[in-house]
Amino acid sequence: MPVMAYSPIEQGRLVTDEGLGEVAGELGVTPAQVALAWLLARDGVIAIPKAGTVEHVRENRAAADLALLPETLARLDAMFPLSGGPVPLAIL
Ligand SMILES: NC(=O)c1ccc[n+]([C@@H]2O[C@H](COP(=O)([O-])OP(=O)(O)OC[C@H]3O[C@@H](n4cnc5c(N)ncnc54)[C@H](OP(=O)(O)O)[C@@H]3O)[C@@H](O)[C@H]2O)c1
Repeated sequence: MPVMAYSPIEQGRLVTDEGLGEVAGELGVTPAQVALAWLLARDGVIAIPKAGTVEHVRENRAAADLALLPETLARLDAMFPLSGGPVPLAIL
């Protein structure tokens, strides 16, 4: 079943996440791009970021071409672990 990340930048809050910022700095990309590339690396996952500027649209599109290494994906998995079981869908 496909999964849709409907708030993939957490309504903008992820751009100031310290861990994402570290990874982004090492790769020379932005935190938003790391967040999107991490999601898109998973089979069957799509992301629908909302962008209000052309710059953000371009940046987010470029994230689709960002291939993260397995060790980077594992690092991000550890930073943002899955929940232990079913949780209610957040209403935004
Ligand atoms: N149907 C539903 O139940 C449902 C639920 C949630 C969301 N949605 C829809 O899904 C879309 C996304 O929702 P969302 O706003 O919650 O989440 P989001 O895409 O995670 O976050 C959007 C925020 O991230 C910022 N942003 C986007 N790209 C960026 C970039 N490259 N760098 C820095 N900041 C960036 C945007 O700023 P700028 O505007 O300045 O670009 C905006 O403040 C919206 O169209 C929303 O309506 C639908």
